[in-house]
Amino acid sequence: MNKIIAKLEQQQNLDRDEFKWLLENNTAELRTEISRRAQIIANESFGKGVYVRGLIEFSNYCKNDCYYCGIRCGNEKANRYRLTESEIMDCCAMGYDLDFRTFVLQGGEDPDFSDDQMVELISKIRNKYPDCAITLSLGERATEVYKRFFAAGANRYLLRHETATEDHYKKLHPKELSLENRKACLENLKEIGFQVGTGFMVGSPHQTVDNIVEDLVFIKSLNPHMIGIGPFIPHQHTPYKDAKAGTLEETLLLISILRLMLPQALIPATTALGTIDPNGRELGILAGANVVMPNLSPVSVRKDYSLYDNKICTGDEAAECRVCLSKRMEGIGYEILTHRGDYPQK
Ligand code: 5AD
Ligand code: FES
Repeated sequence: MNKIIAKLEQQQNLDRDEFKWLLENNTAELRTEISRRAQIIANESFGKGVYVRGLIEFSNYCKNDCYYCGIRCGNEKANRYRLTESEIMDCCAMGYDLDFRTFVLQGGEDPDFSDDQMVELISKIRNKYPDCAITLSLGERATEVYKRFFAAGANRYLLRHETATEDHYKKLHPKELSLENRKACLENLKEIGFQVGTGFMVGSPHQTVDNIVEDLVFIKSLNPHMIGIGPFIPHQHTPYKDAKAGTLEETLLLISILRLMLPQALIPATTALGTIDPNGRELGILAGANVVMPNLSPVSVRKDYSLYDNKICTGDEAAECRVCLSKRMEGIGYEILTHRGDYPQK
């Protein structure tokens, strides 16, 4: 076996120059080898089981203007929507019937969906579905607000750091947003007791190999429960509309590296990965990922939650995605597990 891959597997970490070597020697042979090792490690942790999370994209209003994102406030062409509480509860009911035991509430940083409303919603879901995990993906909030969400019954929080390099962060975000605050939010969430997920886009505009090395170093030090990575895909109504998309190969390589670094982590094969390649999600699982996150949002709003162009599944009902994913996983010898899929495993 390649010495650096062997070291990564044994020590679950590498020095910066070794990470860099892996990323710069991204050959088909190396990818095959690392993917094989990552798959073995993932199978040791999770067998051939894939956890499933129902994603409810409940609002695409956002006060931020991240330069890569299709729902940034500066995109006047976005068709804005916000689901009502009862529509969100309907999504949960449908999800529960489809065996989902984790609901992921994701939205832009929508100032008109108040903290009080959010707390009420979380409490309602918690009371109605005591056996389900509630995951939030609501961006940066005050520590007090995170505490209220946790007390109301939320268990997990997804907040990608996006890039761990200060000057790269500035190239992707307006000056109101800082890497420092993002990192502080992640630490606070962890401290409060959330299972925390972070991550970044592969091939985001201006990203260098050194930036990715810093992402890996940061992720190792944070030691998150979940890691979401997917290729950057340009959106036509953003400043980065002409930037190149991230590649399948590099995303798969990074999934494998992350799996070897964090054998127990929950790593999704993301929708973005399925968007750049028709078999992207299957390949992600085979490279060491162990989670899929089908969409539970009503079909009427799906096209409007457009972070990037050509997103898959925007015309499919939740039940169709559920069946489709089961078949896709069976097609590669895996099966979807319907329990909560906590970390560490219970
Ligand atoms: N391409 C791929 N991923 C994107 N995200 C936002 N915009 C894009 C894009 N154009 C990702 C960000 C964010 C997550 C919800 O979606 O990493 O954290
Ligand atoms: Fe949505 Fe396949 S997962 S149609």
